[in-house]
Amino acid sequence: MNSKIGDLIYAGKAKDVYETDNPTQVIVKFRDDITAGDGIKSESLVKKGFYNSVISSKFFEVLEKSGIKTQYIELIKPGYMLCKKLDMIPLEVITRNIAAGSLIKKFPFTDKQELNPPVIQMDYKNDEYHDPMLNDSITIALGLATQQELDGIRDITLKINAILKDFLLERDILFPDFKIEYGFDSQGNIVLGDEISPDTCRFWDSKTWEVLDKDLFRKGESGVMDAYMKVASMILSNEDKEKWNINL
Ligand SMILES: Nc1ncnc2c1ncn2[C@@H]1O[C@H](COP(=O)(O)OP(=O)(O)OP(=O)(O)O)[C@@H](O)[C@H]1O
Ligand SMILES: [Mg+2]
Repeated sequence: MNSKIGDLIYAGKAKDVYETDNPTQVIVKFRDDITAGDGIKSESLVKKGFYNSVISSKFFEVLEKSGIKTQYIELIKPGYMLCKKLDMIPLEVITRNIAAGSLIKKFPFTDKQELNPPVIQMDYKNDEYHDPMLNDSITIALGLATQQELDGIRDITLKINAILKDFLLERDILFPDFKIEYGFDSQGNIVLGDEISPDTCRFWDSKTWEVLDKDLFRKGESGVMDAYMKVASMILSNEDKEKWNINL
């Protein structure tokens, strides 16, 4: 597919969104920047954009094959994902299978406690207000989504969780939690957007419980890129690795 990169529409903390010659499509460029704590802690990690785009593409492909509507059209080359342009809903939809992170800081859950059924939490994606946790009533009053849309989002999110949890476990990775974002496509469908990567998920090695995600960066530990590459190595097929010239 020949998609020309056009004007920059939006530069976020880790990705840039570009217009293309098709008004219903964008190119999402995955940058090497990594941030934590509302952007207070910030660094650049060589090849992070490359790996996050390849990892995200893999997950989007797996989900599409299972019938989930996603933004994904194709990975033009590592770092550059051709996507449906979405009118984003400013919600961070968080799903938790194992208690970790802010959940155990804010509530009396035990560290690594299994959460079955999974816990779904929605935060308002708004840096100025530091992404506060929502309930349906506040979300609807703010005009962010209708009850019907929220019910639909929960339903799709649980399906996504089940699909990815199984896919990862088969590859020796636990899926404690993840954050996703949705938007409306040009036909008004609610579609999964943004990314699914070690920046936005917790991944633990199921055999060693080794952390393989952004928590390493948050805690100032070394080996962040090695962990991201290990996730890529564990989830990509030999065919994927050959296609993107990845020798892991
Ligand atoms: N398919 C899409 N179409 C349009 N915008 C998208 C799409 N997927 C993701 N986005 C938006 O693009 C931006 C991605 O950039 P990034 O993740 O770096 O931003 P962010 O720092 O999380 O967000 P922000 O700067 O908005 O707080 C986000 O605002 C995200 O909501
Ligand atoms: Mg983001």
